[in-house]
Amino acid sequence: MTDKIIFFDTTLRDGEQSPGCSMFLEEKIRIARHLEVMGVDIIEAGFPIASEGDFESVKAVASEIKQTKVAALARALDGDIIRASEALKSAAIPRIHTFVATSDIHLEYKLKKSREEVLEMTRRGVTLAANLADDVEFSAEDATRSDRDFLYKVLDAAVESGAKTLNIPDTVGYCTPTEMASLVKDIVERFAASDIIISVHCHNDLGLAVANTLAAIEAGARQVECTINGIGERAGNAALEEIAMALIVRADHFGIGHNIDSKQLYPASKLLSSVISFGVQPNKAIVGRNAFAHEAGIHQHGVLSNPLCYEIMTPESVGAPKSDIVLGKHSGRHALLAKLSELGYKPDKDEIEGLYNKFISLADKKKNIYDQDLIGLISSQNDAAAAA
Ligand code: KIV
Ligand code: ZN
Repeated sequence: MTDKIIFFDTTLRDGEQSPGCSMFLEEKIRIARHLEVMGVDIIEAGFPIASEGDFESVKAVASEIKQTKVAALARALDGDIIRASEALKSAAIPRIHTFVATSDIHLEYKLKKSREEVLEMTRRGVTLAANLADDVEFSAEDATRSDRDFLYKVLDAAVESGAKTLNIPDTVGYCTPTEMASLVKDIVERFAASDIIISVHCHNDLGLAVANTLAAIEAGARQVECTINGIGERAGNAALEEIAMALIVRADHFGIGHNIDSKQLYPASKLLSSVISFGVQPNKAIVGRNAFAHEAGIHQHGVLSNPLCYEIMTPESVGAPKSDIVLGKHSGRHALLAKLSELGYKPDKDEIEGLYNKFISLADKKKNIYDQDLIGLISSQNDAAAAA
């Protein structure tokens, strides 16, 4: 497949910017190494002007990572861009990622600048960045709430000044998938005659970050900005593992390549959770504890006969431990038998009925049934048989 999605991971920048996600330099290097092994195309390592620590982290990641492009974020301001380029000095393949807001609300209340001034900032910022690095990405912050004609003027100016990637952020997670597709399609058509890559960066305030990202891919976006476990400002960014598995599991639908080694997704999620102060919710797609767990009897029977009955991907394909049959009051005889045989116990027909009844009455009283509980049931059944 020649048509490919470029995975731009911003776990170390947008992800780290969110509450509870601060990382030490050593931790950032460990994560960056894993992202490289996993096949991420671009690692956004930080925002060097933000602090001395951020500058040092970008510098360290840039020295360590040699196969993968390393990006540093900078507002479209001379000082930011120069600092980003200094932090990237030892990078094998550096990218300066510069941005300015384009929505009226940001211009009026945050930047206190006119549209003409923002256009000028774009030209000046991108020109400086292009003088300092071969690869420049430009982002129009809050693009999805921006006036389209003005947004297009800014994007045109960025390209004329040397940007090679245009990123369309849904900064406040406001867009819907059909709106995102229509905007991206328009922009892709606008730059169709060039090599400009159109990128999206979706936030999850309405829980639509991955849906918007996939809609953008269908509309022609070829770079996606995302994070491990979907961490990021407020409700987070689009989750890398969900985008990657959508492309893999629904290759029939998307028909597009990428460089992600899906077996590294679960290890990446675990590594990040061990570094920041929280993990993922149990029912999180792809990497949650329950993503491959089954408790309902009908599901357990189906999965024990053929996992494809209730699983559209295998746990092995994302590097997760094998499917978990969880025993509870919804479980049936098949699951109980499978668990007992894992414990090395092969009950005969009569024993099964007795054990199953005991198991169900225990499960009615106790939310989770552990191996120890089953061993207890077996020995009480044995004691009863011996006494009879
Ligand atoms: O959400 C956003 O708009 C950003 C940009 C800096 C890309 O993070
Ligand atoms: Zn963001």
